[in-house]
Formats: sequence, structure tokens, C-alpha cells
Amino acid sequence: MRLTLSSLDLSHACFCIGLLLLGDGGVPSVLALGASIICSRMPGLAPRQRAFCQTRPDAMVAIGMGAHMGTEECHFQFQHSRWNCTALGERTLFGQELKVGSRETAFSYAILSAGIAYAVTNACSYGNLTDCGCDYSKRGHYHEEEEEEEEEQGWRWGGCSVNAEHGIRLSREFLDAREVKRSALALMNLHNNELGRKMLETFLRLECKCHGVSGSCTMKTCWVTLPIFRELGFALKEKYNTAVMVEAVRGRRQLQPTFLRLKLPQGYQKPAETDLVFLEASPNFCEANSTTGSAGTQGRLCNRTSSHEDSCEMLCCGRGYSTFRYTRSWQCHCKFHWCCHVTCSTCSESTLAHTCN
Ligand SMILES: *[C@@H]1O[C@H](CO)[C@@H](O)[C@H](O)[C@H]1NC(C)=O
Ligand SMILES: *[C@@H]1O[C@H](CO)[C@@H](O)[C@H](O)[C@H]1NC(C)=O
Ligand SMILES: *[C@@H]1O[C@H](CO)[C@@H](O)[C@H](O)[C@H]1NC(C)=O
Ligand SMILES: *[C@@H]1O[C@H](CO)[C@@H](O)[C@H](O)[C@H]1NC(C)=O
Repeated sequence: MRLTLSSLDLSHACFCIGLLLLGDGGVPSVLALGASIICSRMPGLAPRQRAFCQTRPDAMVAIGMGAHMGTEECHFQFQHSRWNCTALGERTLFGQELKVGSRETAFSYAILSAGIAYAVTNACSYGNLTDCGCDYSKRGHYHEEEEEEEEEQGWRWGGCSVNAEHGIRLSREFLDAREVKRSALALMNLHNNELGRKMLETFLRLECKCHGVSGSCTMKTCWVTLPIFRELGFALKEKYNTAVMVEAVRGRRQLQPTFLRLKLPQGYQKPAETDLVFLEASPNFCEANSTTGSAGTQGRLCNRTSSHEDSCEMLCCGRGYSTFRYTRSWQCHCKFHWCCHVTCSTCSESTLAHTCN
């Protein structure tokens, strides 16, 4: 855990407590009434997810926000790649079910699962859910530094520590309910869902505030906060780059696959919990193909001067590209006026863009 100091914690802590006191009214009846209708019509839910939706309509709002966060982050991380998360967040809120056991599917599931755990945890801290709030279990307890140095004093738990455990549990309950059959793909998805949540857990961080005469740190309180979701996005992208290929194995006297092992010529090893796993090599995503979940790269903007994935050569798969001129405009010469508004002019320039044939 990293240590960051902030001076805003007190208002944050008070906000948490205030909302906690307000948030004991149970599920608003309007929500409960509408839920059964909304849940039964929501496309793309597995039966157990539909049941979850009906019993926990308040959590569905946070889950939807989490799915959206995951999708947005996926688009950001893959904006320059041939695959740009096209299968995610399209037909339904939770993305169409990916039937291909590729690296891309692995990333999609992990980021979605992390996003849902993240948003539910956040909603808990804001008092938006009926059955969770801040984690106050350690509040007031003293934390001794493990390597006691002369300057380093321990600190006390205070403020609103996020209840990540609850967010992780709901993400598991909801997202894992999608894996109905015991298949190789289901085992892969469950592994990657869990990895997404584990990553959230490892990125939780400590925030502290000093209380003392003129900023001296004679007394320090700390609490657990969520990371910036982007950090998780980058970390999961790294996991995507180093993902390992696995195969599903049947246990003795079992008809269906029961666990995964690394696909290696020899040896018999289970994948590490910290690795993203996939079952099959990815297509090249050059041409559209609904079987492989590829949207193709026709019409994508490419970069003529880049030497990376987004170069016209790479992105267009050698099919060539078309160039057109368009006017790009943005806000500029912005001035701050006391107090408090900003005025800007609009600047524009004519620029060239290239799209794949
Ligand atoms: C909490 O609920 C309010 C009102 O529905 C919403 O505007 C806000 O975004 C929610 N916050 C979180 C962190 O879920
Ligand atoms: C789509 O991909 C599958 C699997 O690689 C392949 O068998 C099929 O021919 C492809 N379809 C088209 C229309 O390219
Ligand atoms: C992703 O690629 C598809 C197909 O090339 C394109 O239509 C879409 O606009 C792209 N999406 C994003 C978010 O860049
Ligand atoms: C194209 O790539 C070059 C080199 O990587 C980069 O400096 C430039 O900003 C990119 N242009 C656009 C429009 O992204």
C-alpha cells in the first residue's frame, strides 16, 4: 500500500457518517416495485442474475455504473489497437457474452469484474446501498509500523475506510452467476473475474492526515481508499500483455472440466491466481468476423507517422488508407475572471486524418 497525505479527509469522513445515518430506510418502495419489471426486461441477464436484480435493485444501479466504468476503461486502454473492445458494452449493459476464449475476452471479463467491485465499494462509502457503508471495524485502533524507525511513529485508523470486501462479494455474486455451464470457457471466465477483483484489492491504498500543531505529525490517522480506476486499467493491460495460455482438465471420474492448467509441453502446473488466462490464440482482428468477435479495422482512424500499433501500416493490415481534410476546433486562450468564471475563444485548424480502407 502506498501512503498519500491529504487534507480533505475530514469532510470526506463526515460526509460518510452523515450518509450512513440517512441510509437506513430500506430499499425505496418505488425502486422495489419497478425492479421486477425492469429486471425481467433487462436484456442479457442470466437467470440467476435476474434473480439477483430482483432482490437487490439498489445494488443494480452501482453494478451498472461499474460495468460502464469497465467498458470505458477498456476503450481507453485499447484505443490504438486493432481490437478496441467492440464486443463490450454494445448490445447490453454488460456486453454481449463472449464465446471465444481469447486474451481479449480475458481482459474484458477482468476489467468488468474490477469495475463492478469498484463501483459497489464506492457506492457503499457514499451510503447509496442499504446493507453497507464505510468499514469502521478497525477505527480507533492503533497501527504499529512494522519496521520501527526513530522518526516513524505508528498511526490510528480513522475516517471512512472503504468496504472493498463487500464490493468484491457483490461483484462475485452477480458476475459469476453468468457462468452457468461447467465448461473450459466458464473456468477461464471465473478465473479472470477473480483476478480483476484481486487487482482491485491489491491497489487499495492508505490515505492519511496529520493532526498536530501547525501541521506537525504528532498524531496521524489513516484510512483505506480506492485507487484511481485508471491505475487498475493500466495494471490489467499489463496482465493482458503477459497473459498465459491454459487448457481445461477433467478431474478423475468427472465428465466436465474441473480446473485449468498451463498449456506447456511438459509439467503440470496450475496458473497463478495473479495471471490472466486464455484458452486460444487471438485472431488478427483485421477483418470483421462475428464468430471471433472481430469488428475489423475498416474505417478506423490511423496515424501515418506512428511506428506503433496505431500506425496506418499496422492498423489497416496492409489494405491501405484514405486521407481527408477536416477542421479541428477546440477551446483556447482561456482566461480566468475573478470570481468565478472562465472565458475562452475557439481555435481551429485544418488538419489531415487517415482512415483504414
Ligand atoms: C449515489 O447515488 C446518487 C443518487 O442516486 C448518485 O448521483 C451518485 O452518483 C451515487 N454515488 C455513488 C458513488 O455510487
Ligand atoms: C470467421 O472466423 C472463423 C474462425 O477463425 C472462420 O472459420 C470463418 O471462416 C471466418 N468467417 C469469415 C466470414 O471470414
Ligand atoms: C472501434 O472500432 C470500430 C470498428 O472499426 C469502430 O466502429 C468504433 O468506432 C471503434 N470504437 C471506439 C470506441 O474507438
Ligand atoms: C501520431 O504518432 C506520432 C508518433 O508516435 C505522435 O507524435 C503524434 O502525436 C500522433 N498523432 C496523432 C494525431 O495521434
